[in-house]
Amino acid sequence: MANQLPTINDVAKLAETSATTVSHVINETRFVSPDTKQRVMDAIRALGYRPNSMARGLRSGQSKTIGLIVPDNSNPFFAEILRIIENYGYSKGYSVILCNSDGDVNKEIAYTELLYAKQVDGIVFISTNNSTEHLEKLTDSGIPMIVMDRDVDLTDTDVIMVDNYQGGYAATQYLIQLGHQRIACIAGPSLLTPSADRVKGYRQALEDAGLPYDESLVVSGDFQVDSGESAMRVLLEGKHRPTAVFACNDLMALGAMRAIREAGLSIPQDISVIGFDDIALSSYISPTLTTIAQPLKEMARASIEMLITRIQGETVDLQAKRRVLPTELIIRESCMKIGED
Ligand code: RIB
Repeated sequence: MANQLPTINDVAKLAETSATTVSHVINETRFVSPDTKQRVMDAIRALGYRPNSMARGLRSGQSKTIGLIVPDNSNPFFAEILRIIENYGYSKGYSVILCNSDGDVNKEIAYTELLYAKQVDGIVFISTNNSTEHLEKLTDSGIPMIVMDRDVDLTDTDVIMVDNYQGGYAATQYLIQLGHQRIACIAGPSLLTPSADRVKGYRQALEDAGLPYDESLVVSGDFQVDSGESAMRVLLEGKHRPTAVFACNDLMALGAMRAIREAGLSIPQDISVIGFDDIALSSYISPTLTTIAQPLKEMARASIEMLITRIQGETVDLQAKRRVLPTELIIRESCMKIGED
């Protein structure tokens, strides 16, 4: 079968079933026993089978569905993004299949296989890990995919994200300009590019201001509220508590604020707090949260627009695009000059 694309008969043979059954599994047009379905899915994956694009065209053109894989749709950051993507996709005649990987790479892999089997027309993907093997199968199969927010090591793939390093630098530089010198950082998962680059920006801003990097002032969280609270508790136990803290996302900043208040301290009088994302909640809490805004509306809209032009083949320039958008410092009430009343 060298140099020949696998056919539905090859899949049927490997799965020890009929081509009709394979077709029923792919199109979900009839019940197939779980055992047979699993054998068919395994054979499709093993052979890298994709239904003949002509046959697909003859069957019904595109599926008019788009897959959207996010790490945690309960996080307002992702919730706001998927809202924009679903809205715009619907306005262009596409329904969106939302896949919540829950920070679990195995779940992410299962969802990529599901979207492949459902023959979605394209995928907007936000990774939960930095493994790429399962993504290469998707891109090799020709399904258009836009990587958003979290960079992954894939060649020839469109990427839309923000300059996380610049954002981390700006957050820290702002605190330094307020006179803070003991600035803590609550990092996100170190494996993820956004957090790693924000921490790099934090470190560089300290260095550029001639301030020492004290690793006891950097505690890792997982981008969830509770991890921000527990990380802040650790920072408050230290001999010399920080006068300011940069949390690598707003949810962890909210958790840190709860820990600070529970320690009987005031924000920003005792400790200034700055976050990252600018989720809608940040301007409703008291004090309102100073943060680094991600242009998430622009990122989400650009991602879905680019995906649909890829799907519809309207993109003249086939070269993969890499767009890195700037962040913006949003000054609110949670930070103040050191020593001010
Ligand atoms: O709040 C979730 C975080 O993970 C955001 O900062 C976003 O960049 C995502 O990567």
